[in-house]
Amino acid sequence: MKSKILIIFGALSSGLFSISLAQDGDISFAESDIAVASSNIITKPGGQKYACKTYPGDKSYPVASAWAHFNETVGGNLQVAIPPGAECYQTLDGVIQTFDAAKCAEVRANWADEQWNTDHPISNLWPYWTNGTCTPFPADSSSTCTRGFYGDYVVTAKTRAHIKSTIDFARRNNLRLIIRNTGHDFMGRSTGWGSLILNTHSFKDVTFTKKYTGPGTWRGGAATVGAGIQGRELARLANKQSPPQVIVMGECPTVGFAGGFIQGGGHGPLATLYGMAADQVLSVDVVTASGKFVTANAASNPDLFWALKGGGPSTFAALISVTVKTYNDLPSAAVILNINFTHTTDLDVYWKGVDAFHSLANRYVENGLFVYYELLPLRLHVQPFVGPNKTAAELGAVVKPLFDKLDAEGVPYSTETKEFKAYFDLYIDVFEDETSGSPAITGGRLYTRKDIAENATAINDAQRFSIEQGAFIVGHIVGPGTGAPKVDNAINPKWREAASFSITSFTVQPNATLAEKAEAQRVVTHVAGQKLREASPNGAAYVNEGDLEEPNWQHAYWGTNYPRLLKLKKKYDPLGVFYARTTPGTEDWETIDFGTKLCKKL
Ligand SMILES: Cc1cc2nc3c(=O)[nH]c(=O)nc-3n(C[C@H](O)[C@H](O)[C@H](O)COP(=O)(O)OP(=O)(O)OC[C@H]3O[C@@H](n4cnc5c(N)ncnc54)[C@H](O)[C@@H]3O)c2cc1C
Ligand SMILES: *[C@@H]1O[C@H](CO)[C@@H](O)[C@H](O)[C@H]1NC(C)=O
Ligand SMILES: *[C@@H]1O[C@H](CO)[C@@H](O)[C@H](O)[C@H]1NC(C)=O
Ligand SMILES: *[C@@H]1O[C@H](CO)[C@@H](O)[C@H](O)[C@H]1NC(C)=O
Ligand SMILES: *[C@@H]1O[C@H](CO)[C@@H](O)[C@H](O)[C@H]1NC(C)=O
Ligand SMILES: *[C@@H]1O[C@H](CO)[C@@H](O)[C@H](O)[C@H]1NC(C)=O
Ligand SMILES: *[C@@H]1O[C@H](CO)[C@@H](O)[C@H](O)[C@H]1NC(C)=O
Repeated sequence: MKSKILIIFGALSSGLFSISLAQDGDISFAESDIAVASSNIITKPGGQKYACKTYPGDKSYPVASAWAHFNETVGGNLQVAIPPGAECYQTLDGVIQTFDAAKCAEVRANWADEQWNTDHPISNLWPYWTNGTCTPFPADSSSTCTRGFYGDYVVTAKTRAHIKSTIDFARRNNLRLIIRNTGHDFMGRSTGWGSLILNTHSFKDVTFTKKYTGPGTWRGGAATVGAGIQGRELARLANKQSPPQVIVMGECPTVGFAGGFIQGGGHGPLATLYGMAADQVLSVDVVTASGKFVTANAASNPDLFWALKGGGPSTFAALISVTVKTYNDLPSAAVILNINFTHTTDLDVYWKGVDAFHSLANRYVENGLFVYYELLPLRLHVQPFVGPNKTAAELGAVVKPLFDKLDAEGVPYSTETKEFKAYFDLYIDVFEDETSGSPAITGGRLYTRKDIAENATAINDAQRFSIEQGAFIVGHIVGPGTGAPKVDNAINPKWREAASFSITSFTVQPNATLAEKAEAQRVVTHVAGQKLREASPNGAAYVNEGDLEEPNWQHAYWGTNYPRLLKLKKKYDPLGVFYARTTPGTEDWETIDFGTKLCKKL
C-alpha cells in the first residue's frame, strides 16, 4: 500500500485533532470521521469547552433506521442493553416492561457468582461502577430500573467482522465505545454511561502448536487464544495437550486472558519463573480504531505489537486473538500459612508476624516463588506460596527462615505443605474461587526489591495503616524480572525490579452521596496511598489493579515507557475511539456531568 502522510491541524473548522498518519496508510481515518469527532462541542458555565461523544438527544445521534442497518451488519447481534436485575423491576426507565419473577430469582441466586456475571452481556462484577443501579434486590418491586452507568446498546460479537462493524459504527457516529470481555475490571473500565458496548466474550477459540514458526526467535510451544477465553478455561485446555502445557495467567479462574489482563501486563503464579503475561506474547490479531484488521508481531507493525504488550486495555486496538508461549508443565509444591484471631488477638504480635512474612519477599522471588495472600486486621491468609518446579522439601527450604523467625518471636500460626505432580494440579487444588458483587474502590502499590531491602518494616507499617483506614489488602509476591529473560514491551520497566504488589480495596456503597464518595477516594489516594508511596519510593503502580486518582499516573503505571506510548496512541487512535480511564493519551478526557458524558477538554 502506498505510504501516506496526512496532517490535519486547524484545517477543520474546530482544529481539535492533530492527525499525523505515517507509513502504512493502513490506519488512515476518513475526513468525515475526523469532522464528527469534533462536532459535539459543549461550553460549560465559566467558559470551559469540551468536544463530547454523541448521546441520545444530540442532533447527530443515529436515528432508528441507522441502528437497524447497523444491526444487520452485526448479524442481528445488537441488543438494547438490559441491566442484570431489570427482571426484578416493573420497567426499565419506565419504557421497557422487564418484570419476570423466574428470571429475577435466577439473577438473585447468581449475583455473587463470577462466571454467571461474566457470561451476562453487560454485567459488571463491581456494582460501584454501574452506580449500584438496578440491583436484583429492589426495596420495592414496583420501582423502576434505571441504567446508571450501564451502556445503552450491546453487540455480542460473534465474528471478527462484527467487531469491525461495531468499531466503524462507533467511530462514524462519535459514540462512546466500551469493550467488554468479562466485566472484571476493578476500575470500572468495561461499563460506561450512554455507551455502545462491544462484547468480545464469545471468542472462545484456542489452538495449540508444539513448535511456533512465526516471526521472532521462539521455537517452543504456543497457543492462539481468542479474546473471550478465561483463566481456568485456558489452563484446562493447555493441560489437555500432550505433553501438558502451562501458560502465564492470573490466579483468578474467571479473569479474561486476552482482554484487559494481557494489555495491562498480567501477573500470575508463573510470572516469577517465566515473566509477565505480556512477556509471553508472540503475535496479536486486532481491529484498529480506523476499522482495519491488523496482525502485530515482531515482523508486522512492530510498534503496535510493542504497545499492545502491556500498554493499556482498550487503548490501541480491539483484540481478536493473541498468540502466546506455552511451557511443559512441571512438578510443583505449595505452602499454606494462616495467622489469625484463632492464633492470637494481640495486634502487635500479629503485625510482627505479618512483617516477618512480607520482609522476606526478596528471598521468595529470588528463589522463583509466587505468593498470594489476603490481609485484614487479625487475618493473614497465605494461600499459597507457590514453588513451581520445586519439591515440598525444596520449597520448605526457601520458606524456612520465615518459620524460624515466627518461632523465635513467639508468633503463633498454622501451616500446611502440599506436593503436586504438576503445576496444573496445584492451581486447581489450592487457588480459591472468588465472588463478585462487593462495592469498592481500589488503590495499589508495587514494591521493588530495593524497597523491600531498604524499607520492609516501613512498608509493613504502611500496609497496616491502610488496613486501619478500612482497606482489605490482596497481596501478590511476584518477581517477573528475576527468572525470565527480558522482553522489550510496554509494561512499566519497574516490573523487572518488582518483589511484591498489593491491591488495597476500600468498601464504598454506590449509593453514597457524592461528597462521601469523594472523601472515600481521598482516603484511598492521599491518606492510605500516600503512606504506601512514601514507604516505597522506588516502587510503581499497576494499571489493572490501581487507583483511578493515582498522582502522576502516566509515570506510576508506565514509567519511562510513557512518552512512546503516548506517541503510539496518537498514531493509532488519534480520535479517541477507544477510551479507558488512566490509559495513554487520556489526560484531556473526562466524564463530565457527574460521570456521564465522555468529553475531550479543549
Ligand atoms: C478477582 C480478580 C482477580 C484478578 N487477578 C489478577 C491477577 O492474578 N493478575 C493480574 O494481572 N490481574 C488480575 N486481575 C485484574 C485483571 O487483570 C483486570 O481486571 C483486567 O482488566 C480484566 O480483564 P477482562 O478482559 O477480564 O475484563 P473486562 O472488565 O471485560 O475488561 C477490562 C479492560 O479491558 C478492555 N478490554 C476487554 N476486552 C478487550 C479486547 N478484546 N480488546 C481490547 N480491550 C479489551 C476493556 O475495555 C476494559 O478496559 C484480577 C481481577 C479480579 C477482579
Ligand atoms: C437486531 O436484530 C435482531 C434479529 O433480527 C433482533 O432480535 C434485535 O432486537 C435487533 N436489535 C435491536 C436493537 O433492534
Ligand atoms: C449515581 O449515583 C449518585 C449518588 O452517588 C447520584 O447522585 C447520581 O445521580 C447517579 N447517576 C446516575 C447516572 O445514575
Ligand atoms: C526445573 O528444575 C530443574 C532441576 O533443578 C532445572 O534443571 C530446570 O532448568 C528447571 N526448569 C525450569 C523451567 O526452570
Ligand atoms: C484461621 O486459621 C485457621 C487455621 O489455623 C483456618 O482454618 C481458618 O480458616 C482461619 N480463619 C480465617 C478467618 O481465615
Ligand atoms: C444504600 O445501600 C445500602 C446497601 O445496599 C442500603 O443498606 C442502604 O439503605 C442504602 N442507602 C440509601 C440512602 O439508599
Ligand atoms: C522508608 O519509609 C519511610 C516512611 O514512609 C520514608 O520516609 C523513607 O523515605 C523510606 N526510606 C527508604 C530508604 O525507602
